[in-house]
Amino acid sequence: MCGIVGFTGARSAAPILLKGLRQLEYRGYDSAGIAVLAGGAIDVEKVSGRIAKLCEKTRDGAAVPGVTGIGHTRWATHGAPTDTNAHPHLSNDGRFAIVHNGIIENYLALREELIADGYVFESETDTETIVHLLEFNYDGDIKAAVMKTAARLEGSYALGILCTDAPDTLYAVRESSPLILGIGVGENYFASDVTALVAHTKNVIYLEDGEMAELTSASIRVYDCTGQEIKKPVSRVTWNVEAAEKGGYEHFMLKEIMEQPGAVKAALVPRLHEGRIRLDDFELSAEELRGINKIIITACGSAYYAGCSGRYAIERLCRIPVQAELASELRYGDPMVDEHTLVLVISQSGETADTIAALKECRSRGAKIIGIVNVVGSTIAKLADHTLYTWAGPEIAVATTKGYTTQLAVLYLLAIYIAERLGRLDEKDYAALIKKLMQLPKLLQETIDMNYLLPTVASRYASQSLFFIGRNTDYAVALEGALKMKEISYLHAESYAAGELKHGTIALIDEGQPVIAVCCNEALADKTLSNIVEVKARGAKVLALAFRGNTRIVSQADDVIFIPRIDTIFSAILAVVPLQLLAYYAAKEKGCDIDKPKNLAKSVTVE
Ligand code: F6R
Repeated sequence: MCGIVGFTGARSAAPILLKGLRQLEYRGYDSAGIAVLAGGAIDVEKVSGRIAKLCEKTRDGAAVPGVTGIGHTRWATHGAPTDTNAHPHLSNDGRFAIVHNGIIENYLALREELIADGYVFESETDTETIVHLLEFNYDGDIKAAVMKTAARLEGSYALGILCTDAPDTLYAVRESSPLILGIGVGENYFASDVTALVAHTKNVIYLEDGEMAELTSASIRVYDCTGQEIKKPVSRVTWNVEAAEKGGYEHFMLKEIMEQPGAVKAALVPRLHEGRIRLDDFELSAEELRGINKIIITACGSAYYAGCSGRYAIERLCRIPVQAELASELRYGDPMVDEHTLVLVISQSGETADTIAALKECRSRGAKIIGIVNVVGSTIAKLADHTLYTWAGPEIAVATTKGYTTQLAVLYLLAIYIAERLGRLDEKDYAALIKKLMQLPKLLQETIDMNYLLPTVASRYASQSLFFIGRNTDYAVALEGALKMKEISYLHAESYAAGELKHGTIALIDEGQPVIAVCCNEALADKTLSNIVEVKARGAKVLALAFRGNTRIVSQADDVIFIPRIDTIFSAILAVVPLQLLAYYAAKEKGCDIDKPKNLAKSVTVE
């Protein structure tokens, strides 16, 4: 939620800040602003609305001279998305400007204190307290003021700070919100995400919690919370700037759907060596696994639904009880977790506040934590005992697609790995499963190729409230399909375990009611077929999703989308793709802002 950028060098800062903000717009897009130092003063330009409006206002940055500046794109938490509440915020004396990603939990108490000291607030934001606190703590030593200020803040923050007394310097601080420093030649940067940096440099430094950085065009210095300078490792970003651009597609979401075969391949191939699974830099021994009596998968949103699918694969192959738990519920649920529990924490961004809290809760109860994460160097990747990266590359569209399928791929891999270690698979079955796993990228491509007619189908079904039904693995897919439809097309969509329909929901089925029935679990396809017959008898219009060659379904459903046949263990990863496309084309027909749906943000760093 919210993206921040900073630049200092010899070039004009504003156009570089605006370009960086465009890359971060997926993190929040209800207002935006920049602050640039020039002639001993800070010029702030901000607008409610999208970055395009800020570009227009500043003539693409040309109207804001200066070579050192900070920028912000906002997802409103405290106060409406107005010009006044937009960042950057200025101190009363005009000496400091700041941008902030995160939430200051004790801001009301700080605000009261500062008002009592005579500070005047312009906005309703929690962020403005920080800039007044900086002014209050300043006695000529900027670094000391930043540290003193940070020490009073409770909550999460990535801060970018300008001060007129150090006109060529940027300050950046991190606590529980991502912040990455970019090392250029004669110029340096910071940003909430590497996507805003790769156009300039691939050499980056990941700041840790409690660390502060001082950047000039010639140097980057990092300090710990006691003010001690520390040496930080430089990491190299492995993907190119094109990976974070649309590459000819109308939307990032469509591009990312199309990238799934390659992304899943990238998640699997490095972990398969001569037909055997090797986890990255860790192993789970048979002895360790025998001490595990339960697996908990915890995550939010689509990542949770990936966990719901993965649960079936792990239980079926490993015969260990698996619970999929919403992180937002688990964190307050007094969970039955101990040192015999293995916890899989799934997150594309690695920064989701509830997921981080659930991780910490499970850790405090002694569980071993494996993170399944896309964003390298993110908080969850750092907090987990071990991390399996999903290697999906940058995911820009707010609605996840390749993030989700790569999470599934890693869960499948882990399920086979654990089953083999526990002796639940003989060599023949192990080899057969690995072979099937390796076919997934090709079958994903086939799934995409087979569904070129979906725009037409979408316009027939996505006209009103929809039901998504399925059983077992198909139910998990239905959950994700309905979420995709809701979030990008704004159509009401409900997912139901098909067997539950007659326990209440069938009362809602009327003439013409669209029902999307996922029937890719072969063992249960007949059961779902009966549900199709039942809803059709009440007037429903049914679009079924089934394996190629399923002729029985053709005679019952109004329309059928086919996917290639695959072992049920893996069917979810293919079945979700047509549902992603269905949501995409429904949203497109409705003229929705597909990559940036209303009220959402990519990285949910607040509770
Ligand atoms: C839906 C979507 C969200 C995320 C959820 C968790 O398309 O993207 O539901 O899956 O906010 O985010 P991560 O995976 O970053 O923890």
